Amino acid sequence: MYVCICAAVTEKQVLQTLACGACSVKALQQKLGVASRCAKCARCAHELVQQHRQKQQRLTPPAANDDVIAVEQSLALTPAEGFAVS
Ligand code: FES
Repeated sequence: MYVCICAAVTEKQVLQTLACGACSVKALQQKLGVASRCAKCARCAHELVQQHRQKQQRLTPPAANDDVIAVEQSLALTPAEGFAVS
């Protein structure tokens, strides 16, 4: 499916560009020419960027919680005391 008719850019090209590190419509515009003429594709490109971000967030493990780390350190738990190390 074409995302941008003016620049003949497909959804597959947009997704590949996002997977290679592009993270905004501006980046897609610079790399592929999306939304650089009539800009009717800008909304569709924006939605693809948002979907990609959400997918990345689901795949990225949560950052270490400083509060949990502080509690673990204050208790000085070790694996021998039943503290599970994963
Ligand atoms: S459809 Fe993308 S710039 Fe016109």
